Amino acid sequence: MIAEPTAPFLRACRRLPTDYTPVWFMRQAGRYMPEYMALKEKYTMLERINTPTLAAEITMQPINAFNLDAAIIFSDILPPLIGMGLDLEFVGGVGPRLNKSIHSAQDVADLVTPPAAEIMGPTLEAIKLVTAELAPRGIPLIGFSGAPFTLASYAIEGGGSKNYLKAKSFMYNEPAAWDQLMNKLVAVQADYLLEQARAGAAALQVFDSWAGHALSKLDYVRYVRPYNTQLFQKLEKAGVPVINFSTGTSSYLAEVAACGGDVIGIDWQMPLDWAWQQIGHDKAIQGNLDPVALLAPWPELKARADDVLNRAAGRSGHIFNLGHGLFPSVPVDNVRRVIDYVHERTS
Ligand code: CP3
Repeated sequence: MIAEPTAPFLRACRRLPTDYTPVWFMRQAGRYMPEYMALKEKYTMLERINTPTLAAEITMQPINAFNLDAAIIFSDILPPLIGMGLDLEFVGGVGPRLNKSIHSAQDVADLVTPPAAEIMGPTLEAIKLVTAELAPRGIPLIGFSGAPFTLASYAIEGGGSKNYLKAKSFMYNEPAAWDQLMNKLVAVQADYLLEQARAGAAALQVFDSWAGHALSKLDYVRYVRPYNTQLFQKLEKAGVPVINFSTGTSSYLAEVAACGGDVIGIDWQMPLDWAWQQIGHDKAIQGNLDPVALLAPWPELKARADDVLNRAAGRSGHIFNLGHGLFPSVPVDNVRRVIDYVHERTS
């Protein structure tokens, strides 16, 4: 039998009662912090990711600055695509770019699926360094990966996209290659996530950032759900809680939740109580403050944090987070203030 966890974040993942509502923020390490900017000036994004001591240091920056209840390993969802045979560059002011992307069924056939130990070694090493540092403080570390659709969209579009024209037309025109691509992504991400748990991650989050923006319910059910379901099934043997995060999926949240995961991460557009009803109270929920609310004056920000907490209604199994990642322009003091406020109000 697995012993009950003591960390509030892990207890909330299991819907166990906690002394206060646990808080962490997606993109909690990043450009809004002067400590991060100092390292960004000296090293490229891929250097920061692939140097375990640097990745560990960046992971710890928000932990040392705020009373957060969980850390998330500093990396990105895209580096595993390098190991599969694509290339990746983070272009300043633009975002990620894949100069060698997928155009044909042959490109999919050429993708390789090496073990994570081979292609993501530095991140697995960083997880070991960070968990050694966090263990005495009782703070759990979250490992993560992208979900197959979100990664496929980058692999086919070659970068971010507005309408997902290339990714969706590939999906419609090349169903066999789509199936092969999604299966390869599931295999690589599942192995990577299981290795992260083995290296010390106490929870795992799968980011499906773009499926909800790109796809109707019909297409989600047909082209995404089978693969996400397989991925979450494979993660059951990780022995740690799994968070299923997506955005833009309010019109088919029940289908998203049915794919799996102990915790459903929701975006900021829907009321949390309504979302919890859609997914069922037998799952924990994570969210869902609008990240832009962190730019509002305190009374406004507090009102929005209160609304999220009121909708959670003190029910066990709520993890306070944003509905998407922190923006670089948020004031550090607002981040600190809202974390402390959630703790105070719920204890
Ligand atoms: O949450 C964390 O603090 C952990 C680290 C993390 C990063 N990216 C660091 C990062 C995580 C979990 C991600 C996930 C990620 N990356 C997602 C899914 C989450 C989401 O936001 O929906 C996606 C879609 C990506 C792809 C990606 N990486 C984009 C679109 C960009 C450019 C946009 C931007 O903010 O610059 C990145 C770069 C990136 N990933 C940065 C960081 C800190 C910024 C790099 C820099 O300039 O310092």
